Amino acid sequence: MKEKHYAAPDEVMYHIGFCHNDLRGARFAVLPGDPGRVEPLARALGVDSEFITSHREYTSWLTYIEKQPVLVCSTGMGGPSVAICLEELVRIGITHVIRFGTTGTIQDEIDLGEVIINKAAIRLDGTSYHYAPAAFPAVASFTMVEALSKAAKAENVPAHVGISVSSDTFWPGQERYDSFTGYVPKAFQGTLQEWQALGALNYEMETSALFVTAQCLGIKAGAVCGVVAKRTDSESIAPKNIYDTAFDRQVKVTVGALKQLLKAGD
Ligand code: URA
Repeated sequence: MKEKHYAAPDEVMYHIGFCHNDLRGARFAVLPGDPGRVEPLARALGVDSEFITSHREYTSWLTYIEKQPVLVCSTGMGGPSVAICLEELVRIGITHVIRFGTTGTIQDEIDLGEVIINKAAIRLDGTSYHYAPAAFPAVASFTMVEALSKAAKAENVPAHVGISVSSDTFWPGQERYDSFTGYVPKAFQGTLQEWQALGALNYEMETSALFVTAQCLGIKAGAVCGVVAKRTDSESIAPKNIYDTAFDRQVKVTVGALKQLLKAGD
């Protein structure tokens, strides 16, 4: 193994726009995709939340859970920006990340507004192949999955643990026909049914890149997503009230998990 390249404490990372000193000792990060969700999420997760910076798709706040600092940083959409974010977060001292995303379920028994905790992901992305070959699995940290699942149970949140299908595209890779042309290339026709038959739970766009990159960088990763599309009924995205329900549930699960992990020092 080669030497690891940690940044100097005051070295500002090129893409995320902040440095180790800005973390005030935080080792845990919660990662939504959308920069617009960072402030409300930081405020919902903890207290004394403060803005760090906003650069490109990366908006960052610090919050405190049981007096311990936790970073909330957006990743933007898709694998490439997730991997860039992780590379820089690891260099400044982050060791644990929880993706806080949205998703479309492909299983009939999962409803809008419910929560999915992914233990692994099918690699329909390009980014993860730059880090590890096709035979390498995209898996979550077991500790993270356990903490998130325990928190969901304790908080009575309807949650499902399983495998995600992480696609680089929202339309063809997720076999959506309501696109501009309506065309889905042959390679993707029938794939929703195939993933469904194989027991995968959901479609989203970041988790496989997150899991593989985190593993390659030597940090722990988990993912908790809110269900905002039910693909067994329609291709549409749910209205705002569903987002809000899912968000509140994801917050409960994330806070519960972080309290366990921070207490255990893991
Ligand atoms: N995000 C996705 O990538 N797909 C969905 O269906 C919903 C959210």
